[in-house]
Amino acid sequence: MFDPSDFITESIEEIKNRIGDKKAIIALSGGVDSSVASVLTSRAIEDQLLAVFVDHGLLREGEADYVQKTFENRLNFRSVDAKEEFLGKLEGVEDPEEKRKIIGEVFIRVFERIAKEEGAEFLVQGTIAPDWIESQGNIKSHHNVALPEGLVLEVVEPIRELYKDEVRLLGTEMGLPDDMVSRQPYPGPGLAVRIAGKITPEKIKVCRKANAIVDEEVKKEGLDKTLWQYFAVLTDTKVTGVKGDIRDYGYLVVIRMVESLDAMTADVPELPWNMVKTISQRITAEISEVTHVALSVSDKPPSTIELA
Ligand code: XMP
Repeated sequence: MFDPSDFITESIEEIKNRIGDKKAIIALSGGVDSSVASVLTSRAIEDQLLAVFVDHGLLREGEADYVQKTFENRLNFRSVDAKEEFLGKLEGVEDPEEKRKIIGEVFIRVFERIAKEEGAEFLVQGTIAPDWIESQGNIKSHHNVALPEGLVLEVVEPIRELYKDEVRLLGTEMGLPDDMVSRQPYPGPGLAVRIAGKITPEKIKVCRKANAIVDEEVKKEGLDKTLWQYFAVLTDTKVTGVKGDIRDYGYLVVIRMVESLDAMTADVPELPWNMVKTISQRITAEISEVTHVALSVSDKPPSTIELA
């Protein structure tokens, strides 16, 4: 049985021994894993840890403000605007694994730069067990374990043996707010893995807005506590619709909501039909570029949680 209090005591000791009086940085994405890893590490080495929030231009609506407000007074925190660097490298790229690879590489470049500026020698990561288990199986290369050769920072992964439910218990034990601890997992590459095909400013805008609508309606229904993840995917398919009396030709958006314990498997539960219809109506009414909304009903396996 996982005991968060024992885990904290042991980890603090291990982190102190490993990092000593050196400086470390962590990529704080605002997700549960990196948030918990940041707070845990800062308990061990305090201001020797710099938590860096990188805006890669593929964030959820309101994300940058939320993370800043939650952490600026808890940690040694720095926010970096790297939108142009990421989006420039992603221009024209269609393949999801290629997108992950590029995002991973740019992340490391940004971090190596900041590490140099800060004199950091360690890179702390919020990797958890399913990340490396799935990467070993070549299912998806989650960016936080795909480190390029020649990395000059030493990697520390204080929660790599834990599963999400344990990470959440740890977060609560360390006093992180409930809304942070119970946040749905959000992939490091952000909207990049929820936009099929080429990433353009228009597609980012559409995908971000559709995700915000799903988020609002799921929370209104109180399902954010029971669903593992709930999101919208912008497909690269355009379909015919009719708005007013006029033929329209716009994007097909897929909404996906799953229950899971650890993301290794996932089920699509029965969903309140009114909520599904409201989401569909709002997306087509509020986002002029979308003509059609479909609901994904596939479990994992055989599908994965993200479509990309
Ligand atoms: P899949 O789609 O593989 O997702 O069933 C399992 C869990 O991992 C998340 N995911 C990612 N997280 N970088 C991340 O940090 C990624 O590239 C990535 N791809 C998927 C997904 O949201 C789910 O929670």
